[in-house]
Amino acid sequence: MPRPKVFVARRIPDEGLNAISAACDVDVWPNQLPPSADVLRERVKDCDGLVSLLTDRVDAALLDAAPRLKVVSNFAVGFNNVDVPACTQRSVCVGNTPGVLTDATADIAVTLLLNAARRLGESANDAKAGRWLTWEPLGWLGQDLAGRTLGIVGMGRIGFATAKRLHHGWGMKVLYTKRSASPEAEKELSAKRVELDELLAQSDFVSVHADMNPSTKGMFSAAQFKKMKRTAVFVNTARGPLVDQPALAEALRSGTIFAAGLDVTEPEPLPPEHELYALPNCVIAPHIASATIDTRNAMARLCANNLLAGVRGEPLPNWVNPDVAATRRKA
Ligand code: DGY
Repeated sequence: MPRPKVFVARRIPDEGLNAISAACDVDVWPNQLPPSADVLRERVKDCDGLVSLLTDRVDAALLDAAPRLKVVSNFAVGFNNVDVPACTQRSVCVGNTPGVLTDATADIAVTLLLNAARRLGESANDAKAGRWLTWEPLGWLGQDLAGRTLGIVGMGRIGFATAKRLHHGWGMKVLYTKRSASPEAEKELSAKRVELDELLAQSDFVSVHADMNPSTKGMFSAAQFKKMKRTAVFVNTARGPLVDQPALAEALRSGTIFAAGLDVTEPEPLPPEHELYALPNCVIAPHIASATIDTRNAMARLCANNLLAGVRGEPLPNWVNPDVAATRRKA
Protein backbone atom coordinates (compact mmCIF):
# COMPACT_ATOMS: atom_id res chain seq x y z
CA MET A 1 0.00 0.00 0.00
CA PRO A 2 1.52 3.40 -0.97
CA ARG A 3 2.52 5.71 1.85
CA PRO A 4 0.24 8.73 2.36
CA LYS A 5 1.50 11.98 0.87
CA VAL A 6 1.65 14.95 3.21
CA PHE A 7 2.53 18.62 2.79
CA VAL A 8 3.87 20.40 5.88
CA ALA A 9 3.54 24.13 5.32
CA ARG A 10 6.54 25.11 7.50
CA ARG A 11 9.29 23.37 9.43
CA ILE A 12 7.78 22.31 12.77
CA PRO A 13 9.69 20.71 15.69
CA ASP A 14 11.24 17.30 14.95
CA GLU A 15 9.11 15.67 17.64
CA GLY A 16 6.19 15.99 15.24
CA LEU A 17 7.95 16.02 11.91
CA ASN A 18 9.85 12.77 12.56
CA ALA A 19 6.65 10.94 13.47
CA ILE A 20 5.00 12.13 10.27
CA SER A 21 8.06 11.32 8.12
CA ALA A 22 8.25 7.80 9.56
CA ALA A 23 4.80 6.99 8.19
CA CYS A 24 4.31 9.29 5.19
CA ASP A 25 6.02 10.77 2.16
CA VAL A 26 6.55 14.29 3.38
CA ASP A 27 7.12 17.53 1.51
CA VAL A 28 8.16 20.26 3.97
CA TRP A 29 8.01 23.93 2.92
CA PRO A 30 11.59 25.01 3.59
CA ASN A 31 11.22 28.80 3.74
CA GLN A 32 10.73 31.09 6.73
CA LEU A 33 7.80 32.86 5.05
CA PRO A 34 4.61 30.93 4.25
CA PRO A 35 3.85 29.61 0.77
CA SER A 36 1.55 31.84 -1.29
CA ALA A 37 -2.03 30.64 -1.83
CA ASP A 38 -1.14 29.51 -5.38
CA VAL A 39 1.91 27.59 -4.25
CA LEU A 40 0.01 26.01 -1.37
CA ARG A 41 -2.71 24.84 -3.78
CA GLU A 42 -0.10 23.38 -6.10
CA ARG A 43 1.76 21.56 -3.30
CA VAL A 44 -1.35 19.91 -1.77
CA LYS A 45 -2.99 18.83 -5.02
CA ASP A 46 -1.96 15.14 -4.68
CA CYS A 47 -1.77 15.07 -0.89
CA ASP A 48 -3.68 12.98 1.66
CA GLY A 49 -2.74 15.26 4.53
CA LEU A 50 -1.83 18.89 5.18
CA VAL A 51 -0.12 20.42 8.20
CA SER A 52 -1.19 24.07 8.11
CA LEU A 53 -0.22 27.06 10.22
CA LEU A 54 -2.33 30.03 11.22
CA THR A 55 -0.74 31.94 8.34
CA ASP A 56 -2.07 29.45 5.74
CA ARG A 57 -5.58 30.02 4.45
CA VAL A 58 -7.40 26.70 4.02
CA ASP A 59 -10.47 27.58 1.97
CA ALA A 60 -12.80 26.08 -0.62
CA ALA A 61 -10.42 26.87 -3.50
CA LEU A 62 -7.59 25.00 -1.81
CA LEU A 63 -9.81 22.05 -0.90
CA ASP A 64 -11.18 21.81 -4.44
CA ALA A 65 -7.62 21.63 -5.75
CA ALA A 66 -6.88 18.68 -3.43
CA PRO A 67 -9.43 15.93 -4.11
CA ARG A 68 -7.51 13.27 -2.12
CA LEU A 69 -7.09 15.41 1.00
CA LYS A 70 -8.35 13.60 4.11
CA VAL A 71 -7.06 15.75 6.91
CA VAL A 72 -5.99 19.30 7.70
CA SER A 73 -3.95 19.31 10.90
CA ASN A 74 -3.58 22.90 12.08
CA PHE A 75 -0.45 23.62 14.13
CA ALA A 76 -2.38 25.96 16.49
CA VAL A 77 -5.30 25.90 18.86
CA GLY A 78 -7.04 28.66 16.89
CA PHE A 79 -8.36 27.62 13.50
CA ASN A 80 -9.83 30.82 12.07
CA ASN A 81 -7.48 30.32 9.08
CA VAL A 82 -9.42 27.15 8.19
CA ASP A 83 -12.86 27.22 6.59
CA VAL A 84 -14.19 24.37 8.72
CA PRO A 85 -17.66 24.19 7.10
CA ALA A 86 -15.96 23.91 3.68
CA CYS A 87 -13.80 21.05 5.03
CA THR A 88 -16.84 19.31 6.54
CA GLN A 89 -18.79 19.71 3.31
CA ARG A 90 -15.97 17.95 1.46
CA SER A 91 -15.57 15.26 4.16
CA VAL A 92 -12.12 16.49 5.18
CA CYS A 93 -11.16 16.13 8.87
CA VAL A 94 -9.73 19.11 10.75
CA GLY A 95 -7.52 18.87 13.84
CA ASN A 96 -6.03 21.51 16.19
CA THR A 97 -3.76 21.65 19.26
CA PRO A 98 -5.70 22.77 22.34
CA GLY A 99 -4.56 22.32 25.95
CA VAL A 100 -0.82 22.06 25.42
CA LEU A 101 -0.33 25.81 24.95
CA THR A 102 -2.65 27.02 27.71
CA ASP A 103 0.04 27.76 30.31
CA ALA A 104 2.48 29.37 27.88
CA THR A 105 -0.25 31.64 26.52
CA ALA A 106 -1.51 32.61 29.99
CA ASP A 107 2.09 33.44 30.94
CA ILE A 108 2.34 35.86 28.02
CA ALA A 109 -1.03 37.45 28.89
CA VAL A 110 0.27 38.14 32.40
CA THR A 111 3.64 39.31 31.05
CA LEU A 112 1.96 41.82 28.73
CA LEU A 113 -0.37 42.96 31.50
CA LEU A 114 2.54 43.60 33.89
CA ASN A 115 4.65 45.20 31.21
CA ALA A 116 1.90 47.59 30.11
CA ALA A 117 0.75 48.38 33.67
CA ARG A 118 4.29 49.17 34.89
CA ARG A 119 5.46 50.86 31.66
CA LEU A 120 8.37 48.46 31.42
CA GLY A 121 8.89 48.65 27.64
CA GLU A 122 8.64 52.43 27.65
CA SER A 123 10.97 52.98 30.62
CA ALA A 124 13.53 50.41 29.40
CA ASN A 125 13.59 52.15 26.01
CA ASP A 126 14.02 55.51 27.73
CA ALA A 127 16.93 54.18 29.80
CA LYS A 128 18.64 52.78 26.71
CA ALA A 129 18.12 56.02 24.81
CA GLY A 130 19.74 58.20 27.49
CA ARG A 131 16.48 59.58 28.90
CA TRP A 132 17.16 58.15 32.39
CA LEU A 133 18.37 61.37 33.94
CA THR A 134 17.90 60.64 37.64
CA TRP A 135 15.62 58.75 40.05
CA GLU A 136 12.34 60.46 39.35
CA PRO A 137 9.61 60.70 41.99
CA LEU A 138 7.06 61.33 39.26
CA GLY A 139 8.65 59.35 36.44
CA TRP A 140 7.15 56.29 34.70
CA LEU A 141 4.29 55.92 37.17
CA GLY A 142 2.19 52.86 36.43
CA GLN A 143 -0.76 50.94 37.83
CA ASP A 144 -0.85 48.61 40.85
CA LEU A 145 -2.13 45.07 40.41
CA ALA A 146 -2.77 43.85 43.96
CA GLY A 147 -6.43 43.59 44.82
CA ARG A 148 -7.60 45.13 41.53
CA THR A 149 -10.35 43.80 39.25
CA LEU A 150 -9.58 41.63 36.25
CA GLY A 151 -12.05 41.21 33.39
CA ILE A 152 -11.65 38.03 31.34
CA VAL A 153 -13.44 38.18 28.00
CA GLY A 154 -13.92 34.53 27.08
CA MET A 155 -13.46 32.22 30.09
CA GLY A 156 -12.11 29.20 28.24
CA ARG A 157 -8.96 27.26 29.10
CA ILE A 158 -6.55 30.16 28.50
CA GLY A 159 -8.81 32.76 30.13
CA PHE A 160 -9.08 30.54 33.19
CA ALA A 161 -5.31 29.98 33.40
CA THR A 162 -4.71 33.73 33.12
CA ALA A 163 -7.30 34.52 35.80
CA LYS A 164 -5.87 31.81 38.06
CA ARG A 165 -2.42 33.41 37.96
CA LEU A 166 -3.74 36.90 38.69
CA HIS A 167 -6.31 35.86 41.30
CA HIS A 168 -3.95 33.67 43.31
CA GLY A 169 -0.83 35.75 42.65
CA TRP A 170 -2.16 39.29 43.09
CA GLY A 171 -5.48 38.72 44.83
CA MET A 172 -7.44 40.11 41.89
CA LYS A 173 -11.20 39.97 41.85
CA VAL A 174 -12.31 38.23 38.62
CA LEU A 175 -15.21 39.18 36.35
CA TYR A 176 -15.81 37.23 33.15
CA THR A 177 -17.95 36.86 30.07
CA LYS A 178 -18.80 33.51 28.49
CA ARG A 179 -21.77 32.08 26.61
CA SER A 180 -22.49 29.77 29.56
CA ALA A 181 -21.39 29.96 33.19
CA SER A 182 -18.04 28.49 34.23
CA PRO A 183 -18.66 26.64 37.53
CA GLU A 184 -14.91 25.96 37.79
CA ALA A 185 -14.03 29.68 37.62
CA GLU A 186 -16.81 30.57 40.04
CA LYS A 187 -15.70 27.92 42.53
CA GLU A 188 -11.90 28.19 42.27
CA LEU A 189 -11.53 31.90 41.57
CA SER A 190 -14.76 33.30 43.04
CA ALA A 191 -15.27 34.72 39.54
CA LYS A 192 -18.50 36.50 38.64
CA ARG A 193 -20.13 36.22 35.20
CA VAL A 194 -21.33 39.60 33.93
CA GLU A 195 -22.36 41.31 30.70
CA LEU A 196 -19.50 42.75 28.64
CA ASP A 197 -20.50 46.37 29.39
CA GLU A 198 -20.36 45.77 33.13
CA LEU A 199 -17.03 43.99 32.81
CA LEU A 200 -15.58 46.93 30.84
CA ALA A 201 -16.86 49.51 33.33
CA GLN A 202 -15.61 47.70 36.43
CA SER A 203 -12.33 46.13 35.38
CA ASP A 204 -8.87 47.58 35.94
CA PHE A 205 -7.45 45.01 33.53
CA VAL A 206 -9.27 43.53 30.54
CA SER A 207 -7.76 40.39 29.00
CA VAL A 208 -9.22 39.04 25.76
CA HIS A 209 -9.47 35.28 25.16
CA ALA A 210 -12.48 35.10 22.84
CA ASP A 211 -12.69 32.98 19.69
CA MET A 212 -12.32 34.82 16.43
CA ASN A 213 -15.43 34.37 14.27
CA PRO A 214 -17.73 36.68 12.27
CA SER A 215 -19.70 37.62 15.42
CA THR A 216 -16.62 38.61 17.44
CA LYS A 217 -14.71 40.47 14.69
CA GLY A 218 -14.12 44.07 15.82
CA MET A 219 -15.86 43.48 19.17
CA PHE A 220 -13.47 46.01 20.76
CA SER A 221 -14.08 49.35 19.13
CA ALA A 222 -14.33 53.02 20.20
CA ALA A 223 -17.57 52.40 22.15
CA GLN A 224 -16.01 49.58 24.19
CA PHE A 225 -12.83 51.53 24.99
CA LYS A 226 -14.96 54.49 26.13
CA LYS A 227 -16.72 52.22 28.63
CA MET A 228 -13.40 51.25 30.23
CA LYS A 229 -11.68 53.10 33.09
CA ARG A 230 -9.10 55.72 32.15
CA THR A 231 -6.63 53.70 34.23
CA ALA A 232 -7.48 50.42 32.49
CA VAL A 233 -4.95 48.13 30.82
CA PHE A 234 -6.13 46.15 27.79
CA VAL A 235 -4.48 42.85 26.81
CA ASN A 236 -5.11 40.74 23.70
CA THR A 237 -3.51 37.32 23.24
CA ALA A 238 -6.39 35.87 21.18
CA ARG A 239 -6.62 37.21 17.62
CA GLY A 240 -5.91 40.64 16.13
CA PRO A 241 -9.18 41.16 14.22
CA LEU A 242 -11.15 41.09 17.50
CA VAL A 243 -9.92 44.66 17.93
CA ASP A 244 -10.59 47.75 15.83
CA GLN A 245 -6.97 48.91 15.86
CA PRO A 246 -7.48 52.56 14.82
CA ALA A 247 -9.98 52.84 17.71
CA LEU A 248 -7.46 51.28 20.09
CA ALA A 249 -4.73 53.64 18.92
CA GLU A 250 -7.04 56.61 19.49
CA ALA A 251 -8.03 55.33 22.95
CA LEU A 252 -4.35 55.02 23.90
CA ARG A 253 -3.39 58.39 22.41
CA SER A 254 -6.24 60.28 24.06
CA GLY A 255 -5.86 58.66 27.48
CA THR A 256 -9.28 56.98 27.22
CA ILE A 257 -7.42 53.92 28.57
CA PHE A 258 -4.02 53.72 30.23
CA ALA A 259 -2.12 51.14 28.20
CA ALA A 260 -2.33 48.00 26.06
CA GLY A 261 -0.35 44.80 25.60
CA LEU A 262 -0.85 42.88 22.37
CA ASP A 263 0.50 39.54 21.23
CA VAL A 264 -1.74 39.54 18.17
CA THR A 265 -2.49 42.21 15.58
CA GLU A 266 -4.12 42.68 12.22
CA PRO A 267 -2.25 42.22 9.96
CA GLU A 268 0.57 40.00 11.16
CA PRO A 269 3.29 41.01 10.97
CA LEU A 270 2.24 44.55 11.87
CA PRO A 271 4.35 46.82 9.61
CA PRO A 272 7.06 48.74 11.53
CA GLU A 273 5.56 52.09 10.51
CA HIS A 274 2.19 51.24 12.13
CA GLU A 275 0.84 53.94 14.46
CA LEU A 276 0.56 51.53 17.42
CA TYR A 277 4.34 51.11 17.61
CA ALA A 278 4.76 54.85 18.03
CA LEU A 279 2.60 54.91 21.17
CA PRO A 280 4.68 54.57 24.35
CA ASN A 281 1.74 53.02 26.19
CA CYS A 282 1.37 50.10 23.77
CA VAL A 283 3.58 47.03 23.98
CA ILE A 284 3.46 44.64 21.04
CA ALA A 285 4.90 41.13 20.89
CA PRO A 286 5.15 39.22 17.59
CA HIS A 287 2.55 36.50 18.35
CA ILE A 288 4.83 34.56 20.72
CA ALA A 289 2.28 33.23 23.24
CA SER A 290 2.97 29.56 22.50
CA ALA A 291 6.69 30.09 21.82
CA THR A 292 8.39 27.93 24.44
CA ILE A 293 10.46 24.88 23.51
CA ASP A 294 8.30 22.43 25.46
CA THR A 295 5.03 23.94 24.24
CA ARG A 296 6.00 23.92 20.57
CA ASN A 297 7.24 20.30 20.94
CA ALA A 298 3.91 19.33 22.51
CA MET A 299 2.02 21.14 19.74
CA ALA A 300 4.10 19.27 17.15
CA ARG A 301 3.33 15.90 18.75
CA LEU A 302 -0.38 16.63 18.91
CA CYS A 303 -0.40 17.99 15.38
CA ALA A 304 1.37 14.82 14.13
CA ASN A 305 -1.08 12.59 16.00
CA ASN A 306 -4.02 14.40 14.41
CA LEU A 307 -2.43 14.16 10.97
CA LEU A 308 -1.60 10.46 11.26
CA ALA A 309 -5.05 9.58 12.60
CA GLY A 310 -6.54 11.54 9.72
CA VAL A 311 -4.63 9.75 6.96
CA ARG A 312 -5.28 6.36 8.62
CA GLY A 313 -9.03 6.88 8.93
CA GLU A 314 -8.88 6.84 12.76
CA PRO A 315 -10.56 9.33 15.13
CA LEU A 316 -8.43 12.46 15.53
CA PRO A 317 -7.23 13.02 19.13
CA ASN A 318 -8.29 16.67 18.76
CA TRP A 319 -11.01 16.77 16.21
CA VAL A 320 -12.54 20.15 15.31
CA ASN A 321 -15.27 18.66 13.06
CA PRO A 322 -16.09 15.18 14.42
CA ASP A 323 -19.44 15.44 12.61
CA VAL A 324 -17.50 14.39 9.50
CA ALA A 325 -16.81 10.94 10.97
CA ALA A 326 -19.50 9.11 9.01
CA THR A 327 -18.63 10.61 5.63
CA ARG A 328 -14.86 11.19 5.86
CA ARG A 329 -12.64 10.33 2.92
CA LYS A 330 -11.05 6.94 3.49
CA ALA A 331 -7.46 5.83 2.92
C1 DGY B 1 -2.74 29.35 18.47
O1 DGY B 1 -2.31 28.20 18.65
O2 DGY B 1 -3.86 29.59 18.05
C2 DGY B 1 -1.82 30.45 18.81
O3 DGY B 1 -2.30 31.69 18.47
C3 DGY B 1 -0.45 30.18 18.21
O4 DGY B 1 0.46 30.40 19.19
